[in-house]
Amino acid sequence: MNEILNRSLCKTYANFFPIGAAVCPKVIKSHRELLLKHFNTVSCENHMKFINIHPEEKKWDFSPADEIVDFAVANRMKVRGHTLIWHNQVPNWVFLDNKGNEVNRDVLLDRMEEHITIMMQRYKKQVYCWDVVNEAAEDKGADIFRQSKWYKIIGPDFIERAFEFARKADPDAILFYNDYNCTAPEKSKKIYNIAKRLKDHGNLIDGIGMQGHWNIYNPSFDRIMDTIDLFSSLGLKIQITELDMSMYLFEDATKEFKQPTDEMIWLQQERFEGIFKIFRDYRDIITGVTFWGVADDYTWLDNFPVKGRKDWPLLFDIQHKPKKAFASVVNFD
Ligand code: GLA
Repeated sequence: MNEILNRSLCKTYANFFPIGAAVCPKVIKSHRELLLKHFNTVSCENHMKFINIHPEEKKWDFSPADEIVDFAVANRMKVRGHTLIWHNQVPNWVFLDNKGNEVNRDVLLDRMEEHITIMMQRYKKQVYCWDVVNEAAEDKGADIFRQSKWYKIIGPDFIERAFEFARKADPDAILFYNDYNCTAPEKSKKIYNIAKRLKDHGNLIDGIGMQGHWNIYNPSFDRIMDTIDLFSSLGLKIQITELDMSMYLFEDATKEFKQPTDEMIWLQQERFEGIFKIFRDYRDIITGVTFWGVADDYTWLDNFPVKGRKDWPLLFDIQHKPKKAFASVVNFD
């Protein structure tokens, strides 16, 4: 068992796909050992998002993202760019003129183009792929598109325009559409349609990012495989971009657990084992698996969907030790 727990995650998967983690400047210090041993790609958890990197029209704050990129380069890790166009964590100025009125389509397209171009050209050498558009699909009902400001002001072609700007800014970058709940049958069809439009309009897209904010109960292995089959039928690559495995069903608001129960630990191990088996089986299609965090001591799920509730969604525990789930992921024939 000790030998198994000593393995390196990314070395074990070297012949399959790179293994990534979302990080911030604090985490590249506090979780440095784990990062260097187990991960060969990073994403910025928050510091490449519009609101942080481009908070005002003429103000850019690149330094935290630069610090992460420098760390990756110094340690020969790849960098995923996350994310250019999203409805969340985008500052209000983007949608307003200097009198506080909503801008028109042309102004917003110019701002979109400038943002994408500056971001992608700055990190051209270091960032190999980008989540160009994040979460544009509507979860429920017949509408395909989320009613975001991007959608309302520009129209549904905001997605194509974003990908066109991205292709032009860095023709070598691999371009992804990224979303959550990809495995829900109706949403998977919407995402398929969004990607198909991009594919049909001059091959603007290279891959679909399935975020992978899953839990120990769902989605089912079959739904994961069906979704990968559906998306890859477009000739696109797939990355799992934000993997974590919550101990709670999404609807479950309980706060009763101070530590995970044996049953939770067992279920999590079983689920991680099963999904990594699927990822290995789809090695020709899956070109990266990134966790949304490194170890259980620092995870956004401690505040989502229930504020202040501890969760344990990753492969390393709060003391940075490999969990049983880790063993089940690195031990295979
Ligand atoms: C979404 C975004 C991520 C992150 C998570 C929650 O999945 O794509 O950037 O904000 O939510 O942390």
